[in-house]
Amino acid sequence: MKKVALVTGASGDIGRATAIALSRSSFAVAITDVDDFGLEKTLAAIKETGGDGASLTLDVTQKRDIESAIREIKSSLGGHVSVLVNCAGNLMPTKAVDIPESEWDSIVDVNLKGTFLCSQAVLPDMIAQGWGRIVNVSSTAGKNVSTVGGVHYTAAKAGVLGLTRHLASEVAAHGITVNAVCPGLIETQMVSNTITRERMDDYAKSFPIPRLGRPDEVASMISFLVSDAASYVTGASLDINGGDLMI
Ligand SMILES: NC(=O)c1ccc[n+]([C@@H]2O[C@H](COP(=O)([O-])OP(=O)(O)OC[C@H]3O[C@@H](n4cnc5c(N)ncnc54)[C@H](O)[C@@H]3O)[C@@H](O)[C@H]2O)c1
Repeated sequence: MKKVALVTGASGDIGRATAIALSRSSFAVAITDVDDFGLEKTLAAIKETGGDGASLTLDVTQKRDIESAIREIKSSLGGHVSVLVNCAGNLMPTKAVDIPESEWDSIVDVNLKGTFLCSQAVLPDMIAQGWGRIVNVSSTAGKNVSTVGGVHYTAAKAGVLGLTRHLASEVAAHGITVNAVCPGLIETQMVSNTITRERMDDYAKSFPIPRLGRPDEVASMISFLVSDAASYVTGASLDINGGDLMI
């Protein structure tokens, strides 16, 4: 029987590429997002490549909804979640002095609290099975300063890296690895909604590999982290940024 992978934010560009890549790696993929139209597109792409999947509307900031989604995934895909990719994210470019409290809460809740709540919900089954993989999508923002987002985004993505290290140390003895990927500037809706094409091109020219990254390149790194080839990698944060940040 296929292992089940859950991808949050699977209507987005990186989430969709990840769901497709995991499906190609023989996982049954549960795709979730708040954007139903995007989920339909992702599910169609999985089915086109002959994969198995199920789609569910899910807001990652809602604990009860996450718990019922986990139960639904178990019954529809016939197995517990073995792999979780926390990809849901939101971003605003607002300057610190202008950030309303509600906007701070939204950015931190989706990027950081959502990562915690989804991880917490899948851990009991992973611990019971003695195997699991969690990959959190942080950002170069989490290690440095966001180029396109505000202070709330940078703080939330840095929080994701702390969460990754701490959780990795807590669950390693149960056969569960927890890692983060730190994408640089990737050509997605999130970026094109926030900055102009001209600014994107200017950033691209400044990178050692002088272009933006592609969603499928992030998906490849996530696929590696959930594979047996990465069995001794945990608590790590892997950069994928064209050499923009070398630390
Ligand atoms: N594009 C980049 O340059 C870049 C760089 C570093 C990190 N990231 C991170 O990669 C991840 C994917 O981003 P993307 O670039 O594909 O953007 P995207 O906007 O295409 O995808 C983000 C997805 O998250 C979903 N989402 C937002 N709020 C949600 C919620 N409350 N519950 C569930 N889903 C929710 C959105 O509907 C969307 O489908 C995000 O975590 C983002 O912060 C992106």
